[in-house]
Amino acid sequence: MYISKRGMRILDGNQPLVAAHYRCASDPWHPESNPKGYINFGTAENHLVFDLLKNRLNASPDIREHHTHYAELHGMSDFREALASYLTDYTGVKASAEHIVTATGSSAILDMLMYALCEAGEGMILPAPYYAGFDHDLKTRVQVEPVPAYTRPEDGYKLTLEVLQQALLHAGKRTIKVRGIIITNPNNPLGQTYDRETLEMIVKFAADHKLQIVADELYMNSVFGSQPYVSLAEVAAEAGADIHLVYGFAKDFALSGFKAGLLHSTNEKVLQVVRELAYFMPVSNATQQILINLLRDKDFVKHFTDENKRRLKSASDFTHALLDKAGIPAEPTDAGFFVWMNLSKWLDSETFEMEFQLYNFILEQARVNVMPGQFFHNAEPGWFRLCYARNEQMLETGIERIRTALHRLDEARLTIDPDSQSVSESE
Ligand SMILES: Cc1ncc(COP(=O)(O)O)c(C=O)c1O
Repeated sequence: MYISKRGMRILDGNQPLVAAHYRCASDPWHPESNPKGYINFGTAENHLVFDLLKNRLNASPDIREHHTHYAELHGMSDFREALASYLTDYTGVKASAEHIVTATGSSAILDMLMYALCEAGEGMILPAPYYAGFDHDLKTRVQVEPVPAYTRPEDGYKLTLEVLQQALLHAGKRTIKVRGIIITNPNNPLGQTYDRETLEMIVKFAADHKLQIVADELYMNSVFGSQPYVSLAEVAAEAGADIHLVYGFAKDFALSGFKAGLLHSTNEKVLQVVRELAYFMPVSNATQQILINLLRDKDFVKHFTDENKRRLKSASDFTHALLDKAGIPAEPTDAGFFVWMNLSKWLDSETFEMEFQLYNFILEQARVNVMPGQFFHNAEPGWFRLCYARNEQMLETGIERIRTALHRLDEARLTIDPDSQSVSESE
């Protein structure tokens, strides 16, 4: 049977994060019933707040007859109004319902937005390390080229004008026309927020080079550290620039399974294209109703958000303390669900091959999934992302398993046998 070339191209692309997630899900750790199971610190999900959400989500979503029929496929007006009000409250910029398109998750939004902004083969700059799913969202269907702008550990991963200019230069050498820049603020995988000065620099750089700005602010309400969240929307508005803001329920509301995301854009043409495409991936009316009920209770949202931040901070502090005790260095965390840790001293040589072997070793020997920096296009090998929004018992068990596995490498001065992914004596 003939299968299209574009179909086959999709099969070629692999999503290592997704593969590891399902592997862990097939044999998950449980302290009593499956103490040897996989511990998944690889997936960016928040497991700390279901008790807060449970009653609210199970309250009747008030389904009326019209909800059972076709509604506006880019989001019912009630839903978009509730979302606009939420965005206005938390970004500091006036948002409006007519500038919003909703779809089944932020990945769907990014896929449609790339369709509107770029031709196939054109590029978007992404400060690296960046969220691994962007490769998939940009390339899979619309064939947009990610152009990494490499920030470096020795500079504290600071995003500078030089870093962005280098990326443009590099794209030019690859004869890629760059159409825009995607900023993830707060950042995944670094767990850090951008300061106002950096955001101003980004807006100016984009204006100077006539680039579109996409702000992925999925973690805007998961900020708890010393560096506060400032929305790129606010900084762009002050400079009179347009941006395309991407948001969703997967992170700040811990509702990744609800698959609901949004675009807020002030460009009417872009909105028209994305509204057309949203026909293929609308959020179901029942899900919209549940989320409307949630958003309209502003006191609940405020209480939930504050408590979520408190729990994230506590889990982050707990994780940093455990890593410290285990002798594992890590960058400070201000936001998100991530600790960005440095395992480079356990690499026999500073190569991405070695990093990949260490990743497999930890996955198979410790049965813990932590994602290697290469999946996020980190400039140097040895860094790993640990998603810590888990209960303390799981954090203790998982980090102890990692510590023991790394200790075995230290103790016996072992190397990792790439074929068997097991441990063998080097000399
Ligand atoms: C920065 C960022 N953008 C987008 C997504 C995808 O979100 P969704 O599940 O809403 O498609 C993720 C998920 O991890 C993310 O971290």
